[in-house]
Amino acid sequence: MKNSFGPGALALLNEIKTKYPTGRAAIMPALYVAQEEFGWLMPEALEAVADCLELPEMTVRSTATFYSMYRHRKAGRNVIRICTNVSCMVLGARTLKGVLEGLYGVAPGGVSPDGRFSLEIADCIGACGSGPAMLVNDDLHTGLDAKKIIEVLENYK
Ligand code: FES
Repeated sequence: MKNSFGPGALALLNEIKTKYPTGRAAIMPALYVAQEEFGWLMPEALEAVADCLELPEMTVRSTATFYSMYRHRKAGRNVIRICTNVSCMVLGARTLKGVLEGLYGVAPGGVSPDGRFSLEIADCIGACGSGPAMLVNDDLHTGLDAKKIIEVLENYK
């Protein structure tokens, strides 16, 4: 899969490379581009990032596997990141996690049987004052309860 990025991703990667002094410093933003491009960081995606940054693949892999925001399994069409940290937990996040598991059959770290949703647990997404909160793809949703979370997710097919 070497250099198999599309033109949009390649343009982004070239821009990223100009903003960082070394390829090593550009690994994290480059991994984000790869994750957006391929949906997850399969070995070929890591190889493509390493090739693009002219780094050993192991250097890229060690960064990718250290941070939890990178996906190492194929994701659903929509990625739900629900916060279960203290503020959101106190406001009912665990109940919401149960709603998602019951309604869509998706457990943390998994994908719903229809491929519609992936569920990830987040350790705070910066919306502590208006929780429970979740991200669906790049969209922030706050003030969730069992009814609202279902209404919100109806917009993601
Ligand atoms: S604790 Fe949930 S967003 Fe911060």
